[in-house]
Amino acid sequence: MSAADNWRFETKQIHSGAAPDPVTKSRATPIYQTTSYVFDNADHAANLFALAEFGNIYTRIQNPTQDVLEQRLAALEGGTGALVLSSGQAASTFAILNIAQAGDHFVASSSIYGGTYNLFKYTLAKLGVEVTFVENQDDIDEWRAAVRPSTKLLFAETIGNPKINVLDIRAVADVAHENDVPLIVDNTIATPYLIRPFEHGADIVIHSVTKFLGGHGTTIGGAIIDGGTFKWSEHVDKFPGLTEPDPSYHGASYTTAVGDGLAYIIKARVQLLRDLGSAIAPQSAWNLIQGIETLSLRIERHVQNAQEIAEWLDNHDDVAAVNYSGLPSSPWYAKANEYAPKGVGAVLSFELKGGVEAGREFVNSLSLFSHLANIGDVRSLVIHPASTTHSQLSPEQQLTAGVTPGLVRLSVGLENVDDLKADLDQALAAARRVAEAARA
Ligand SMILES: Cc1ncc(COP(=O)(O)O)c(C=O)c1O
Repeated sequence: MSAADNWRFETKQIHSGAAPDPVTKSRATPIYQTTSYVFDNADHAANLFALAEFGNIYTRIQNPTQDVLEQRLAALEGGTGALVLSSGQAASTFAILNIAQAGDHFVASSSIYGGTYNLFKYTLAKLGVEVTFVENQDDIDEWRAAVRPSTKLLFAETIGNPKINVLDIRAVADVAHENDVPLIVDNTIATPYLIRPFEHGADIVIHSVTKFLGGHGTTIGGAIIDGGTFKWSEHVDKFPGLTEPDPSYHGASYTTAVGDGLAYIIKARVQLLRDLGSAIAPQSAWNLIQGIETLSLRIERHVQNAQEIAEWLDNHDDVAAVNYSGLPSSPWYAKANEYAPKGVGAVLSFELKGGVEAGREFVNSLSLFSHLANIGDVRSLVIHPASTTHSQLSPEQQLTAGVTPGLVRLSVGLENVDDLKADLDQALAAARRVAEAARA
């Protein structure tokens, strides 16, 4: 064990995976803007291709700037390795396809980001991978009942978007492990600063690094982090893709070549990334590293502002209900204290008393909050999910995902909280006027 393994979170977010450049002495991580890397000689080239030696070959498969980001995320989550991809959607796709193929099945919570829901329900189904959605992720028997012999994994978000419900990671991980399959969680809203899913039994973590990790609303990226604890080699019938020889890789078996701790993440890189090509640009990896260096500081302030705004909205006459599991009235308040004692992040949603028309007027009247389809920016953001992020879902699917017609979602930024309240207050007044005019 090296000293770096004992670093606290704040130190890891700045230093893990990075060292001064040995050639130029550059202290900050350089942007390695290159497609390819020169081999020392013919043997070196052959060894790299045979996985007999690790090293850079081609930026579609790995890049030194990307490598720093991967090591940093693996350190922050406490995993054995990471793979960074071009987007969060690519990360979810790879995470599933790495262990499920045509004829296989998986179980997912229905309380997930609308884009992930579409990916699972429609696009993966076209590839022959079938999903069963659990309607109430708090009902552990529903998870258990949904598992079939062909089930390869369970999937959920640690903090759901936009219900802000907190997953009972330990209970769902237990169901997964009873059935010899891994639990994959999307930890985007929490970030490893608030929840470290491997400590609660999850096996694989995915992220939209686009959001709070990057934190500045400039760059799209995704990541898969391997907890390294799932024993693929003890389930050869279930996961032959990890244990049997891969004909597309010189007949290598991933578990034999690199062990259970790294088999999953290495396979995702050398097989799926090689073939599907969803590589992150070196510049994007670099931008995301800059964001992560201040993660803990930003999240502390994000949470402080979000908690204050949630309490303020909860007491506001024009607001019917607030979804934020940092509020004692939330059904997930106890779970929030258990899994995320430092706070439940900066995404919250609320229902306006005036319904859909009031919601539209509210969004139109805000000036400091930006109306756009993102979360996790230093700037405060707002959206009406029913007409945007979740609009491809049917009304019934929207309701299961927690999206009611008058629901408004906020991603609370790092501005002064009094300025944010003032903006919300004048927009709530405008929304009330519209609702009153409609009744008159
Ligand atoms: C929780 C969650 N997971 C995954 C994604 C997809 O990430 P990306 O937009 O980086 O593809 C999003 C995007 O909004 C998200 O909110």
